Amino acid sequence: MDTIRKIIREENLKVPKHVAIIMDGNGRWAKKRNKPRNFGHVQGAKTVEQIIEDGYNMGIEYITVYAFSTENWKRSSEEVGALMRLLQKYLIDCIERSTKNNMKVRVIGDKTGLDSKIVSKINELEEATKDATGLKFTIAINYGGRDEIRRAVSRIAEDVRDCKLEPKDITEDLINNYLDTAGLPDPDLMIRTSGEERLSNFLPWQLAYTEFYFTDVLWPDFTKEDLLKAIRYYNGRDRRFGGV
Ligand code: IPE
Ligand code: IPE
Ligand code: MG
Repeated sequence: MDTIRKIIREENLKVPKHVAIIMDGNGRWAKKRNKPRNFGHVQGAKTVEQIIEDGYNMGIEYITVYAFSTENWKRSSEEVGALMRLLQKYLIDCIERSTKNNMKVRVIGDKTGLDSKIVSKINELEEATKDATGLKFTIAINYGGRDEIRRAVSRIAEDVRDCKLEPKDITEDLINNYLDTAGLPDPDLMIRTSGEERLSNFLPWQLAYTEFYFTDVLWPDFTKEDLLKAIRYYNGRDRRFGGV
């Protein structure tokens, strides 16, 4: 048996069902090596591949990663262009890999702001993996939590206007169904790498009761041992959900 799985069993660790990750620190990782920022993004993309495989092996059922925020357009056109090309390549590779390992992929975020070539790859990937029963992997691209809520409110308003809904029908469950994450359980654990301790507009609605784990490790250096540390930390928390 895989050593990590053995550790999880021996320490009797509860594995979070849904883990959300803010993959941060690619630029600083590259800078430390006197390389361009994009070098860090390329390495970061490899880390995602490894971590989703390790995470699924450990028993995590849902992994959601923050790949590009609605605020990341503020970066230089050179960096944004490199990130978009990397994403495009990643999505293409992902189609082959996810069909092979039975992974169901979803992309959240505002697709209307993305290049049509990327959108068609996203559609292809979601369609190709829609019946997969393994890991549920969600990638946030051009995602901002406030923007997601804004888009949901706008669609709810349209449905009220068109008499498909009444204001009294607007429950928390209904709002959940209008968000990009409709159908996904809320994350149990949120990990942010690189030492920053903020949400940067990632899943503000969905993370309302999530446990947060911060580490100084830069994303390209993040390994399954770091993931195990996060799971141990999670096991030390007492989730009360407002109770006693
Ligand atoms: C995270 O790494 C990846 C993206 C935001 C796309 P950064 O690029 O933010 O790296 P740092 O934070 O500058 O080191
Ligand atoms: C958050 O990281 C976005 C992603 C990891 C995709 P940033 O590096 O963009 O966030 P800030 O600027 O440090 O808040
Ligand atoms: Mg950053």
